[in-house]
Amino acid sequence: MDTPICDFVRAYARSDTHRLHMPGHKGAAFLGMEHLDITEIQGADSLYEADGIIAQSEANASALFGCRTLYSTEGSSQCIRAMLYLIALCAGQQGKKPQIAAGRNAHKAFLTAAALLDMDVRWLYPRNPVSYLSCDLTPEELEEYLQNAPEKPTAVYLTSPDYLGRIADIRNIAAVCHHHGVLLAVDNAHGAYLKFLPESMHPMDLGADLCCDSAHKTLPVLTGGAYLHLSAGLEAAVGAQAKNALMLFGSTSPSYLILQSLDAANQYLTHYPERLRQCLPKVDALKEKLRQHGYSLYGSEPLKLTIDAKPYGYTGTRLADLLRQMNIEPEFADPDYLVLMLSAEASEATWTQLEQALCRIPPQPPVPDARPAFVPGAQVMTIREAALSCSELLPVDRCLGRILAVPTVGCPPAVPILVCGERIDRHAMSCFAYYGIDNCCVVIPAETMRSR
Ligand SMILES: Cc1ncc(COP(=O)(O)O)c(C=O)c1O
Repeated sequence: MDTPICDFVRAYARSDTHRLHMPGHKGAAFLGMEHLDITEIQGADSLYEADGIIAQSEANASALFGCRTLYSTEGSSQCIRAMLYLIALCAGQQGKKPQIAAGRNAHKAFLTAAALLDMDVRWLYPRNPVSYLSCDLTPEELEEYLQNAPEKPTAVYLTSPDYLGRIADIRNIAAVCHHHGVLLAVDNAHGAYLKFLPESMHPMDLGADLCCDSAHKTLPVLTGGAYLHLSAGLEAAVGAQAKNALMLFGSTSPSYLILQSLDAANQYLTHYPERLRQCLPKVDALKEKLRQHGYSLYGSEPLKLTIDAKPYGYTGTRLADLLRQMNIEPEFADPDYLVLMLSAEASEATWTQLEQALCRIPPQPPVPDARPAFVPGAQVMTIREAALSCSELLPVDRCLGRILAVPTVGCPPAVPILVCGERIDRHAMSCFAYYGIDNCCVVIPAETMRSR
């Protein structure tokens, strides 16, 4: 597979052309990679009007993923906004106002997109919520929801895999959606690599209509590199607007370093299934060893190692601190979980060190589970009204009864505990305290604004 963007930029860097164009570093080495950092010069194509090297590279990515694939240089966040915009276009084609039914563990980018696009969001809750980070909705639960919904949503939106490594039953959920004439959009930010497993678990192969992958999260791609994927059906309906959808939410100066990274990944990915095949037994062996050692593991995503910490006698944050003392930096920890992201790129030394470090931590009597129950918040304003209101940042203990303006999240995982437009009650305050959130951005009531 060729790498047209990388080839072009390298040839340009070698040509010693006098750079009387942006960026201001002119190719001089400040960090070291500036010679490869260009802008839309002649021949370099243009991301949102691609018909040259970027179009060729995206065609390569499309061939790899087996569907139309477009690049984002601003992460899945940009793709999520584009997905919601495309869903709004689909609703418009049916003469409807867009409505979206979303798993409640949606990332903050979903909320900002819903606010910007004035989407009507109905939240989907699993029957037995485990954590605000997971929404284990079954196809049966979705079937029941869609059968009883007074108005069918334009799309169902799910996050799978979630931050803890839970994977939804996308195949059967897609079948339920399609039976009801509803689109399925998937936030697959954590699952680009699922395409390359011996049997693909990628949402586009399981029936999703549109989906985003943060290439940078699990593939060897620079931070910011992501894909937006469209099924053949969605491509026929709104494919012509897909570039515009990304352009609406993106910078007019997309990073050519990230574009090269996505381009180079295409070549790498042709050999990646073999690398994954060699890596998976190591993951399985590590997970088995840890189970035997007494750890409880959570989630089913192959390359994520999520430890349910309290049964082993620690909080997730304490385990993370202990690992840091042994020179290991985890992805995420909260009072309950420790998340480590494994990869085919991890060195032998990393595998050995991780296993030794975790086994060196002795089991202790379980920590009692004091996690607050997950209780849906009361929505008193739309997401858009709340997000676009005048707001103030206050300590949580002064927020009782106030309406949340900006999704209050720890980042990572950037999954809102309470959604903008919901009223902050005592339960929400105790959740914030549990997850270490000290301040909230709340709506300033209109009468207060008037009296100021
Ligand atoms: C589930 C989920 N969706 C979307 C995003 C946003 O992805 P990106 O950082 O590529 O913009 C994240 C980021 O952590 C995420 O965890």
